[in-house]
Amino acid sequence: SRNYYAEEYRPQFHFSPEENWLNDPNGMVYYDDEYHLFYQHNPHDNEWGPMYWGHAISEDMINWEHRPIALEPDDLGTIFSGSAVVDWNDTTGFFDGEEGLVAIFTHNGSGQKQSIAYSSDNGRSWEKYDGNPVIPPHPEINDFRDPKVFWHEETEKWVMALAAGKKIMFYDSPNLIDWNFMSEFGEGAGAQGGVWECPDLFELPIDGDPNNTKWVLQVDIGDGAIAGGSGAQYFIGDFDGTTFTSDDEPDHINWLDYGADFYAGQSFSDIPDEDGRRVMVAWMSNWLYANRVPTEVWRGSMSVPRSLELKTTDDGIIKLFQSPIEEFTKLRDKELFKIENQVVSSKEAANLLDEIEADVFELNAEIQLDQPVDFGIKVRISEENEDETVIGFSESTNELFVKRSQSDELYFSPYFDGSHAVSIDDNKIIKLQILVDKNSVEVFSQNGEYVITDLIFPRDDSRSLEFYVEDGEITINSLEIHSIKSTWN
Ligand code: FRU
Repeated sequence: SRNYYAEEYRPQFHFSPEENWLNDPNGMVYYDDEYHLFYQHNPHDNEWGPMYWGHAISEDMINWEHRPIALEPDDLGTIFSGSAVVDWNDTTGFFDGEEGLVAIFTHNGSGQKQSIAYSSDNGRSWEKYDGNPVIPPHPEINDFRDPKVFWHEETEKWVMALAAGKKIMFYDSPNLIDWNFMSEFGEGAGAQGGVWECPDLFELPIDGDPNNTKWVLQVDIGDGAIAGGSGAQYFIGDFDGTTFTSDDEPDHINWLDYGADFYAGQSFSDIPDEDGRRVMVAWMSNWLYANRVPTEVWRGSMSVPRSLELKTTDDGIIKLFQSPIEEFTKLRDKELFKIENQVVSSKEAANLLDEIEADVFELNAEIQLDQPVDFGIKVRISEENEDETVIGFSESTNELFVKRSQSDELYFSPYFDGSHAVSIDDNKIIKLQILVDKNSVEVFSQNGEYVITDLIFPRDDSRSLEFYVEDGEITINSLEIHSIKSTWN
């Protein structure tokens, strides 16, 4: 039988397809105690090609069961990205007065148009609506895709956010079949370096107060993002059922992630109010090199699921914070290292992690800078000490960074080399939660205010770690390392 654990670079706790190509997460919905993850999939090749919806089911968003393909290409085209909802009140009439799942997606054929499909058996099988498409191609806009649909409580109707060129168009519908154009957003707003794709729109409490909310419009751009190539931005504002208005100055850009590999994120629909979480998963890759990353059997994986929250910073700015979902902690295995309240000099730092070996792990740290000094953690260091990935803080630039330019395999693309950074406003204490898998690092800093997600392709023997402090000392308030269990069980 097949040993997934052993495949080179195979993610151990990030979702990846058993075989062949994956890109965007699609149709993410919670229903009847199950989380559904569909995804852009080419079942015939390890490169992008004719798109299908692959499918997986989970009870915790961490352990996934691979399911047969959910949607296949047909006469109207291949199946591009989209979303799914629970039609609780049978607004579609597909469910004989009961409830069921409806997927809303783009058919990519002659023109891009929006179509729907439905399932009465908890997503196990899907029927395409025989009146497809429900929104025909736009006469002027070629890039017209990635419908994200949700039920708008206040106005009791379905709302769709749709990527259209470098804008988002909003539609509404009583029944998911008849759609009416309402408004558009985006003219001159945010980052405009590429086409806009895969929008998401949701309401979140500010600082946990349900009576004080804002709407978040998440928009991906195909090119010109902060770390080069494709990436994710968001707008904070209001949505009244018809129009989205942003609070941001037009030339201001909010990046969701400062690394190169966090794209096409989508949040789960229908997570119950008692839970109240907004959980997002994104594709961990970048269109600059996605087709070239050095894996063979499969290509592409998802980020760790992240809880999204709006919080007011000390400067009075409302920002989106992200943290790995709580369920992730059950993958914590052996505690490999733990210290608290230790002042560490450069020399002491160098040997601190000498005894540790780990390639799939979580590192949590709180570092106090008593004086201006550069520090960091090198991970996935190879046996011969030639290769490493550095997660560091540079005092002179105030920047937290991930440097993958020595992470071994990077020559498959001229765009893969390099370092990705974000400047940290309040930097006397640096908090880090770092998730390292066989082929990725996700760095959450300052309780998720800043995130850097990067793929890496280190050799399998890269299991050493090193803490460094340059010319000075720091106080380690806490530093903990746990190995992480594989989900290929
Ligand atoms: C984003 C995207 C979407 C499209 C899909 C096609 O990565 O380009 O806009 O629907 O991928 O696979």
